[in-house]
Amino acid sequence: MVGLRKPKALFFVVLLVIAISIANAAKDLKEKEDVGIPRNLHEVDHPEKKDAPVGSKIAEKVKGAAASVASAASNASAASAASAASAASAASAGIKGAVAPIGNKLGLKGAAPGGPSIDVKTCGAKGDGKTDDSAAFMDVWKKAIVATTPTTILVPKGDYLVDNLELEGPSKCAITFEMHGNLKAPSAVTTRKPHSGWVNFKKLENFVLNGNGAIFDGQGSVAWKVNDCKQTGKCNNLPINIRLTSLNNSKICGITSTNSKLFHMNIHQCSNVTLQDVHIDAPPESLNTDGIHIGKSIGVTIRGSKIKTGDDCISIGDGTENLLVEGVECGPGHGISIGSLGKYPNEQPVKGITVRKCIIKHTDNGVRIKTWPGSPPGLVSNALFEDITMDNVSLPVLIDQVYCPDGKCKQGPSKVKLENLNFKNIHGTSSTKIAVKLLCSPGCPCENVCLSNINLVSNSKEGAAVSACSNVKPVVTGKMIPAACTEECKPDKKK
Ligand SMILES: *[C@@H]1O[C@H](CO)[C@@H](O)[C@H](O)[C@H]1NC(C)=O
Ligand SMILES: *[C@@H]1O[C@H](CO)[C@@H](O)[C@H](O)[C@H]1NC(C)=O
Ligand SMILES: *[C@@H]1O[C@H](CO)[C@@H](O)[C@H](O)[C@H]1NC(C)=O
Ligand SMILES: *[C@@H]1O[C@H](CO)[C@@H](O)[C@H](O)[C@H]1NC(C)=O
Repeated sequence: MVGLRKPKALFFVVLLVIAISIANAAKDLKEKEDVGIPRNLHEVDHPEKKDAPVGSKIAEKVKGAAASVASAASNASAASAASAASAASAASAGIKGAVAPIGNKLGLKGAAPGGPSIDVKTCGAKGDGKTDDSAAFMDVWKKAIVATTPTTILVPKGDYLVDNLELEGPSKCAITFEMHGNLKAPSAVTTRKPHSGWVNFKKLENFVLNGNGAIFDGQGSVAWKVNDCKQTGKCNNLPINIRLTSLNNSKICGITSTNSKLFHMNIHQCSNVTLQDVHIDAPPESLNTDGIHIGKSIGVTIRGSKIKTGDDCISIGDGTENLLVEGVECGPGHGISIGSLGKYPNEQPVKGITVRKCIIKHTDNGVRIKTWPGSPPGLVSNALFEDITMDNVSLPVLIDQVYCPDGKCKQGPSKVKLENLNFKNIHGTSSTKIAVKLLCSPGCPCENVCLSNINLVSNSKEGAAVSACSNVKPVVTGKMIPAACTEECKPDKKK
C-alpha cells in the first residue's frame, strides 16, 4: 500500500511543479515591452566580395493552386488533416492545444484539406517582380484571419514585390502560408521605426509557413552602402527581413532570407516555434546583418539551417529559454553567440540552450558568450555546445565578458553570471593561435564550466594552439587539445 502511495504523491508533486513552471513561463512571456533587439552595431567583417544568388525564375503557370490543394487532400497529409480538423473544432469550442505538437515530424503540409485556400493571384497579385503586390497580400491576409476553418494562403510561382507586410493575428483558425514564389522588398532605403520588420508575422497560433524554397529578398545592398551606422553606431531604423513576434506552436520551413537591410530574422516573444531548413544568405561585407536573433522566447528549435552573413549567424538574446539549435552550418559570419548581454537593465535570464551538431567555418568566432563590462546583473545558465566542427575559425570557443565593440563602455566588471556551461566534442581548426578563450568576469567568476573532448588545431603560423582563461576553473574531462588554461587572457586587441 505504502509502496503505491509514494509514487502517487510523487506524481502529483511532479504535476504541480510542471504546472507552476508553465505558469511562470507564460508570465515571463507576457512581461516586458516590445523592445525587440536591444543591440547595436558591432564588428564589421572582412570584406570579401561575393554576390548572393537571388532566384528569379519567373516561369509561371497558375497550376500551383491546384497542385497544392491536391497535395493537401492526398494521403501524405492525412495526419495533418486530422490535426487541422481537431484544431478547427478545438478553436470553435475555445479549447487550446488540441493540435499535435509542432515538434512532430515535418508532416505539416496543407493545413486545410477541404477548407478554403486563397490564392494571392486571384486577389490581384501580379508576381511580376515590378508591380507592388502589397495590397493583394494584405487583402488575402484579412480574409484568412477571419476564416472559420483552417485556411491555406497560396503564393504561386513568381516574384512578388511587396513593401512592409504586417501579417498579424489573432486568426480564428490555423493559417498555412504555402509559398511557391519569392518575395522582394523595394530597394529604396526608407527610414523606419527602430526594430521594425519588412515581413512580419505576429500574434498567431498553429501557424505554418511552407516556403518550398521561397526567397525573401530584402534588396539590402543599397542600404549597406548608404547607411552610416559604422560612424553613428545606429542603424536600427532599417528593416529586419522577417520578424516573428508572439507566435505560439508554429512552424516555418523551407525559406531563404537574402540581402536583408538589417538583421535577417528576429524571433521575439515566441513559444514553441520551429524553424526547419531556414537559410540565410548575405555577403560578408553586409553590416549588422545577424542571421537569426532570438529573444524573450521559450521552446524555439532551429534545425537544418545554412547561414552565411556579415554578422552573428545566430544570436541568442535575453529571455531565451529552452532553445535547440541543431544541424546548422554557419559561415562566413561571426559564429553562434549567446549575447550580447548586459547592455541594458532588467534583462531576463538565458536558460537551457543547446547547440549541437553544427559546422562553423571561416568565421570570426565559433561558439561564444559575450557580455558587456560594467553591466547590471544578469544570468546565463545551462548551456550546452556539443558535437561542433570548426573549420578555420579565428576563436573557436570564446567567453568574452569584456565585450565592447565600439570601445565606449562602462567601467567595472560585467555582472552577468555564467554558470553550468558545457563544451563537449568540439574539434577542427583555428585560424589563430588561440583555440579556447574563457575570459570570465572578475565581478562574478564563471561557475561550473566543463570542457570535454576538445581537439582544436591551429592553422596559424604563430605556433601550436593555446587556451587562455581568466576567472574560471573549468572541469576538464576526456581529451583536451590544447591543454586547458595554460595562460591568462591578455587584454583584447582593439578592432
Ligand atoms: C494512407 O495513410 C494511412 C494511414 O496513415 C496508411 O496506413 C496508408 O498506408 C497510406 N496509404 C498510402 C497509399 O500512402
Ligand atoms: C500564446 O501563448 C501565450 C501563453 O499561453 C498566450 O498568452 C498568448 O495569448 C498566445 N498567443 C496567441 C496568438 O494565441
Ligand atoms: C509549449 O509546449 C509546451 C510543451 O509541449 C507546453 O507545455 C506549452 O503549453 C506550450 N506553450 C504554448 C504557449 O502553447
Ligand atoms: C584561414 O583563414 C585565414 C583568414 O582568416 C586565411 O588567411 C587562411 O588562408 C585560412 N586557412 C585555411 C586553411 O583555410
